[in-house]
Amino acid sequence: MKKPYETVPVRSSEITPEHIYINRRQFLKGLAAVGAGSLLAACAPDIAKTLTPGEQATGAPEAPNPSGLTDELGNAANSYEQISQYNNFYEFTIDKEGVARLAEGYATSPWTIEFSGLVNKPQTLSFDDLVSRFDQEERIYRLRCVEGWSMVIPWLGFPLSKLLSLVEPMGSAKYVKFTTILDQDHMPGQNTSYYPWPYIEGLRMDEAMNDLSFVVTGLYGKPLPPQNGAPLRIAVPWKYGFKSGKSIVKVELTEEEPYTFWNTIAPHEYGFYANVNPQVDHPRWSQASERRIGELSRRSTLMFNGYADQVASMYSDMDLTVYY
Ligand code: MTE
Repeated sequence: MKKPYETVPVRSSEITPEHIYINRRQFLKGLAAVGAGSLLAACAPDIAKTLTPGEQATGAPEAPNPSGLTDELGNAANSYEQISQYNNFYEFTIDKEGVARLAEGYATSPWTIEFSGLVNKPQTLSFDDLVSRFDQEERIYRLRCVEGWSMVIPWLGFPLSKLLSLVEPMGSAKYVKFTTILDQDHMPGQNTSYYPWPYIEGLRMDEAMNDLSFVVTGLYGKPLPPQNGAPLRIAVPWKYGFKSGKSIVKVELTEEEPYTFWNTIAPHEYGFYANVNPQVDHPRWSQASERRIGELSRRSTLMFNGYADQVASMYSDMDLTVYY
């Protein structure tokens, strides 16, 4: 029987120093609950209650785009303020508009990340050391939350495949498990014993090696703010946002599919795969449409969040209504 509740040592830190972002600046120069409804409430937003299965919405008026940045589909990037003031980070609070205030000043330097499990080169690296090994690039990704809202976000970071190559996964490694920091003294939400802290997420090896899987270190060309998962979080844009763990302290390669935070709490509601799929509804709301933060009307949700060309082949032999 697997143990869903794990502990990792508490770590503390300060603010990420600017000098580690020199590479990034150079790069940018060249770039333009177990059925307990109330405890799961933050994962069932009121906007979702108005949806009916199969509801589609198109022709949403475009949000203002002060940055001029767009994704590859022409969608305007959300503003820095929207991205950094409306967050899911249960370690601080389940109130999306309260995360930024509670996370303000959260110390993220020094910070270490442990690489372990089925790797030829297990090691523990400081964030500064790690980030200095990779060129930082900007990727403008859509983020679709399982709750039915979405954003377009200009992340900064480097491919997850490069990070994994550094530690040399063994042939027997089938999954990558990401663990978020456990820091009850500074993360008030972690004192809620109902949740299986620390937050854990995972990917299958081929998913982790897909070029879209990204290690995020910054936002809008600036260091990642604490509320978005500083100093380092994952972005897996074809999956619901909960697959993208924040403030990672441990990356472990495993043979077994790891138990994950939301899947442990409510396996019938949050599958391990969690691919964005407008045809497979959440048991309590439709996934056919979404509200882009900053827009009034809803827009249709795209299969694999619009990244089907890059990822659909990984699931060609799977029934996505079973492996949701
Ligand atoms: N990671 C941790 N550690 N804790 C969380 O509560 N929430 C997830 C994901 N990663 C979460 C997390 C969810 S549900 C979403 S939608 C995204 O983070 C939100 O990321 P954002 O706040 O940067 O938009």
